[in-house]
Amino acid sequence: MKRRSLIKNSAAAIIASSLPRFTLAMASADKSSGPHYDYILTAEVATAHLADGGDSEIFGFNGQFPAPVIRAKQGRPLRVKFVNKLNEASTIHWHGIRIDIAMDGVPYLTQPPVPAGGSFIYEFTCPDAGTFWYHPHMNSVEQLGKGLVGALIVEERDLPDYHDVIIGLKDWRLNPDGSYLPLSLPREAARAGTLGTLATVNGKQKPVIEVPAGERLRLRFLNLDNTRVYNLSLRDKNTKVIAIDGSPIAEPYPLEVHPTGAGMRLDAGLISPSEAGVEIPIYDMKGRFGIEICRLKTVPSAKTKAAKTGIPALPANPIPAPQLAEAETLSFVFEWAGAMSPSSKDGQVDHNFWLINRRAWSDHSHQHLPEPLATLSLGKSYIFDLHNATPHHHPIHLHGLIFTVLESDKRSLTPYHTDTILLEKNERAKIAFVADNPGRWMFHCHVIEHMQTGLMGYITIA
Ligand code: C2O
Ligand code: CU
Ligand code: CU
Repeated sequence: MKRRSLIKNSAAAIIASSLPRFTLAMASADKSSGPHYDYILTAEVATAHLADGGDSEIFGFNGQFPAPVIRAKQGRPLRVKFVNKLNEASTIHWHGIRIDIAMDGVPYLTQPPVPAGGSFIYEFTCPDAGTFWYHPHMNSVEQLGKGLVGALIVEERDLPDYHDVIIGLKDWRLNPDGSYLPLSLPREAARAGTLGTLATVNGKQKPVIEVPAGERLRLRFLNLDNTRVYNLSLRDKNTKVIAIDGSPIAEPYPLEVHPTGAGMRLDAGLISPSEAGVEIPIYDMKGRFGIEICRLKTVPSAKTKAAKTGIPALPANPIPAPQLAEAETLSFVFEWAGAMSPSSKDGQVDHNFWLINRRAWSDHSHQHLPEPLATLSLGKSYIFDLHNATPHHHPIHLHGLIFTVLESDKRSLTPYHTDTILLEKNERAKIAFVADNPGRWMFHCHVIEHMQTGLMGYITIA
């Protein structure tokens, strides 16, 4: 059995997502001889054509952008060999996967950093199907900002009748000639974060993505950007939200505008028009009209099939239901530190702008582990009372668990599962989960500059 070569994944294959299914499952079954991996991911310096005026030096998984799409099968083991060909240490984190702590990819907290020239084998089983992603958890402003971000698709045991379309969103801090602008500006890091200057979808500016006509489409949006919130909309009445951040919605509802913060995902279902050549713009709603980020264009469908109708719900994932009556409530306050107080550690300037429960933990001090933000008892239910006491939004992410959003003081909501909650300014929200996964789990803002300037911590489940 040959391991699947990722080098062959052209951007078109990623866009159309017409990868053969089941290859992975078959490959996984082969444990008979020698080292075997479903995928090999190499982090390396590469060249990409992103800006009109010239090439850019990126960090690419397998030297490419978009990064290879990893496809796993729900409930089956996945084995990925990570080879670090960068000149600095790195790791891979599997965002949204309820994973074994040893495979979570956080340096010092869950594994030693993978040194330059080193490698590490990640092997785990994904209990949940859905749209997830992967990225390093070191020097993240630069490593993610320069391109080490990719989609991890976990296929349902029984594949739902949808045609997959991956829409990976990422901005770049580039000059028109393709050279980099500073990836982070302290005055922006202390506010909403430093926005990119060049927007890409699957590595292209405003691409036209071909989709089969008359098909039921599953648009898998992934916000792979360090900073930006996309207010995703198709400005129609027929597209429905079928999953948020990987987790299926029990009853799909019309997609009006879905605010999608850094690290978050959205799966939307729609039936494409039956005629070829129809274009469907997709917007980031800013103000009344929004800006178009890309468009879909129907092409004749290869096979003739019965007309598709309806947008069925995806099968639920096996997320344990928290016992709210017995749950213990813990409070977390996210605050602005108030002052710019750069401190120098390890020869690096370390700005701390943000606090969780009055504490800051920033990237440069990663090797000095602080105390956990909280210690939870294995198997118990918890409610986290989250309070964003800042004038900026923060996509707050918890590793290793999927939680339920119960309520917010800013909007009425039907409780839903997620791994990241976008808190708007001054918002209070309650989330709940069963602490059933033992380990030390990062709890941080996914605006990468916020994370690296204090807005991170971890909880221990034991
Ligand atoms: Cu995308 Cu610490 O996570
Ligand atoms: Cu994560
Ligand atoms: Cu933040």
